[in-house]
Amino acid sequence: MKMKKNRIQKIQQSLTLWYQKNSLDLPWRKTDDPYRVWVSEVMLQQTRIETVIPYYNRFMVKFPDAGKLAGSDIQQVLKLWEGLGYYARARNMHKAAQIICEKFQGRLPDTREELRRLPGIGGYISAAIASISFHIPAAVVDGNVKRVLARLFMDATPINDTGEKNHFETYAVKLLDHEQPGDFNQAMMELGQRICKPGNPVCSDCPVQEFCMVFQADQVGNYPVRVDRKSVPLKKMNYAIVFHGEKCLLLRRPAEGLLGGMWEFPGYEQQRQTTQPEKQLADMIRRITGIRISVKEKIGTAGHAYTHFKVTATVYLCFYKSGEICLNGPAEHQWILPEEIHHYPCHKLIHKIFPMLHGLANQEE
Ligand code: ADE
Repeated sequence: MKMKKNRIQKIQQSLTLWYQKNSLDLPWRKTDDPYRVWVSEVMLQQTRIETVIPYYNRFMVKFPDAGKLAGSDIQQVLKLWEGLGYYARARNMHKAAQIICEKFQGRLPDTREELRRLPGIGGYISAAIASISFHIPAAVVDGNVKRVLARLFMDATPINDTGEKNHFETYAVKLLDHEQPGDFNQAMMELGQRICKPGNPVCSDCPVQEFCMVFQADQVGNYPVRVDRKSVPLKKMNYAIVFHGEKCLLLRRPAEGLLGGMWEFPGYEQQRQTTQPEKQLADMIRRITGIRISVKEKIGTAGHAYTHFKVTATVYLCFYKSGEICLNGPAEHQWILPEEIHHYPCHKLIHKIFPMLHGLANQEE
């Protein structure tokens, strides 16, 4: 793709001017400290700005530098991350902080190559840190930037086609302002979030309207192009709130894998239909925990949509009958009072089950 130098310069100027005048006053923009930029970019990678701000502020109070993060317990980090989702981000940051302390005296390395070798830091995050903190000309390409580029250059390549991963990067690299790469990258992201929005772009406020090929061709509504995603699978989970006296059983998932390290009630994914759900639940809980339980009643349902699947959960009130805990799958167990649940990092579906705990203890038959 050819781009005229003059046109590129004008787009860069309009965009950086707009950014200087209009950019949001965000906590991580008060500094170019690479640690702070790293934390903010990891949080922002899958999450909206308004959601990230309070998490970022709390994170900085508790873990103000890589040394504090590296020296902390992963459970503390997951507790702070609770609700943000994609928990591998937190586990990777914790591991990366330890490497930063061991190999780089607690400071993030200042080249893209070294940054990329750290757990959880890929093309996007390394480009963001390199450009914002070290003023290295690396182009950042996220979903917002792809949308801006698809419209600006009227490119019909689907922005969510995984086979075309680097397609939009070619535009971004050519367009990047080498004098102020950090501001330019952030301007592109912010333009995508606030002006060049997916559904109803505010073209009247756009600083690059006169250069935008879809605007000029009156085709804004037809760009960007996306490939249809297959509908996401639906999983059916059953959870057991197992009381033993006043306490109920909580399990920690293994450190690696989906929702790794997060706590939950004992449960399983129902693969096959059954006419005896209570028996199936008791059998599965025995297999997972080693204990025998009685299933008293169904107490509610909860649902949650993850990125690649949806879950509906049925929750049963159960009571401990006999046996010793012997875990097959989970990494750890705790018998806790219902009010103690807030000390444990739990994923969103489990949070939706919390309200069902009220007044359940001591109902044993
Ligand atoms: N999204 C991800 N990182 C961002 C940043 N630094 N500025 C604006 N939006 C972002």
